[in-house]
Amino acid sequence: MNVLVTGGAGYIGGHMVLALRDAGHNPVVFDNLSTGFRWSVPEGVPLVVGDVGDHELVLRTLQSHQIDAIAHFAAKLVVPESVADPLGYYLNNTVKSRTLMAAAVAAGVEKFVFSSTAAVYGNASDKPLGEDAPLAPLSPYGSSKQLTEVMLRDVAAAHGMRYVTLRYFNVAGADPALRHGQCTENATHLIKVAIQTALGLRPHMEIFGTDYPTPDGTCIRDYIHVTDLIAAHVLALEHLDRGGESMVVNCGYGHGYSVSEVIETVRKVSGKPVEARFGSRRPGDPVTIVADSGRIRSRLGWEPRLDDLATIVEHSLRWESMLRERNLKL
Ligand code: UFG
Repeated sequence: MNVLVTGGAGYIGGHMVLALRDAGHNPVVFDNLSTGFRWSVPEGVPLVVGDVGDHELVLRTLQSHQIDAIAHFAAKLVVPESVADPLGYYLNNTVKSRTLMAAAVAAGVEKFVFSSTAAVYGNASDKPLGEDAPLAPLSPYGSSKQLTEVMLRDVAAAHGMRYVTLRYFNVAGADPALRHGQCTENATHLIKVAIQTALGLRPHMEIFGTDYPTPDGTCIRDYIHVTDLIAAHVLALEHLDRGGESMVVNCGYGHGYSVSEVIETVRKVSGKPVEARFGSRRPGDPVTIVADSGRIRSRLGWEPRLDDLATIVEHSLRWESMLRERNLKL
């Protein structure tokens, strides 16, 4: 399959490019390089530098590369940033996705894989979340993704397109062969922050809230290795290629770890101290978010291979150390 990977120069999209090549497909990267990196696109993979909101360029790219399927990763994804700049998020994540879909319809692309998020669920219960749980996003980020989910559903129904929407839980880790990893500047994600603290890049870190109704008082998340997440995307594309029906699936392991457990794992894996100070709650944080992953396992035959927090931390740590050694950008 010839697959257009929007956001293919970024963290998760970049892993998709590698996995597509490993599986014998032909990725074409479409990225505006706002947060992605040219160096991360493997040699031999075409890179079109442009914006998914540029209808003409997207259409020309779909036609000239004879694209069979689109994997749409390009998005802004920082929750507090979305609260401060909702219009920016709706433009980038929703309006530009509309342009991308319009170009896909014009070019006759029939297969679409979309990166959504567990943030569409909002403040959920402490039970694993099934896909049919009510959607009540707490942030413009979550809403911008929810709106795109709805639009994709309707466009697909009207124009003979089929899609898989994947709702990501907490993605972390790096390619085990260290061909790619997370390069976000000023990272805010827990595992990255804890690792940077272990490596001495930050003097200390903060635990946002220790009085939650969980066994140790800190929030619980379902951390998933980026390689397992991407394997699900390749299965989704192949499902669509076989004529499979559209679906929305959760992408998480189905069990969670608390913030304190994650920090303790970083200490153990790195062998270094991580000074973690107790701070107040971060606005908008749900207590527990854990996936019910039954649907993705049964419908796509997804079997995670790296479902182990220590492995996720180890791969992130190796990637972060390599970045430092090579003096690459965060
Ligand atoms: N946390 C800390 N200290 C830090 C960073 C994080 O205590 O320095 C805590 C947070 O308060 C939260 C947990 O660690 O309880 C995880 O926080 P992250 O920022 O790593 O991730 P989130 O759960 O907030 O959000 C992530 C993605 C979203 C996605 C969501 C789905 O950033 O895009 O997972 O569950 F929607």
